[in-house]
Amino acid sequence: MLKAFLLFFLLPLLHVSRCFCHESVPPSERDSSCPASSRINHDDIGENPNLKKLESVARLIDESQRILVLTGAGTSVAAGIPDFRSPGIGLYDNLAKYKLPYAEAVFDVNYYRENPYPFVALCRDMYLALNKAQPTLTHYFLKALENHNKLLRIYTQNIDGLDVRAGISPRKVIECHGHFRTASCSKCWKAAPIDSVLKAILEDGQVPICEACGNPVKPDITFFGQALPAIFSDNIEPDTDKADLLLVFGTSLNVAPVSLIPSFVDPDIPRVLFNRDPVDMGNAKHQRDFFVEGDCDTNVRTVVELLGW
Ligand code: OAD
Ligand code: ZN
Repeated sequence: MLKAFLLFFLLPLLHVSRCFCHESVPPSERDSSCPASSRINHDDIGENPNLKKLESVARLIDESQRILVLTGAGTSVAAGIPDFRSPGIGLYDNLAKYKLPYAEAVFDVNYYRENPYPFVALCRDMYLALNKAQPTLTHYFLKALENHNKLLRIYTQNIDGLDVRAGISPRKVIECHGHFRTASCSKCWKAAPIDSVLKAILEDGQVPICEACGNPVKPDITFFGQALPAIFSDNIEPDTDKADLLLVFGTSLNVAPVSLIPSFVDPDIPRVLFNRDPVDMGNAKHQRDFFVEGDCDTNVRTVVELLGW
């Protein structure tokens, strides 16, 4: 009920502010049931706190049947796609040439209606890079979760389609911030043919215009001020109710309502954050949080070795 209430008010894409770390101590006890690979020397684990933590995470994955996954831009950084907010290298620090009033305006639906040119120019720069990127090790790990019948669903904020390109079934992936496969008007929301929209943007460098109302059309990636796709609100409550483990990869959790997903899972469900930076996952009642610091591919590789997959 509380989830439905929050979603009702937070369905439009919103920027939220988070800045502090929330990490509770993982359970210290270990049992012998953790599957081990021969490449990890288990004598080292006692002296390496990160390995010890990864061993606990591997054990959780091994024991879980309905793993909910939340991904952000950090998941695709190793594929050569910059994230948004990493200082200096993130997209938002590199938009000066578009002369925006503030960086996130490039993805703001109200701003797009008034001035579509910055997004159209960015889209040309971005689209080809997204299209030729290859899935990362983390994407293939998520595919392995599906192969082991452990994947409940992936909620991704990414628009690069790399989960499905890694072979994950589309029904397992919820693209919370949309995709480039369809297009619609930014004002009357009438659908427009994606091929001609992409041709206008990519080949002609022109703003695609709605035949019905004359406003700018855009690919169906979700902009600030716009509701998330219905598939998100249709699934988020049952999925967070069913999950027995939450894995979060490469996100600053700065954008609602996706940033609320970690607080939607039950407080006794373990939550694991794989991220370069500490991020607040919300809801202090959670006592079973793990923060796995660093590049997600590096840590995922170790987890896979520990699982023996
Ligand atoms: P952000 O750029 O806000 O956050 C990415 C996070 O991933 C940061 O905390 C990085 O430290 C971390 N990171 C970067 N590389 C990593 C790596 N190799 N391994 C692990 N962590 C890494 O990106 P998102 O949280 O995805 O929406 O951004 C959310 C939304 O904001 C996006 O979907 C986009 C943006 O505005 C729209 O534009 C609609
Ligand atoms: Zn229209």
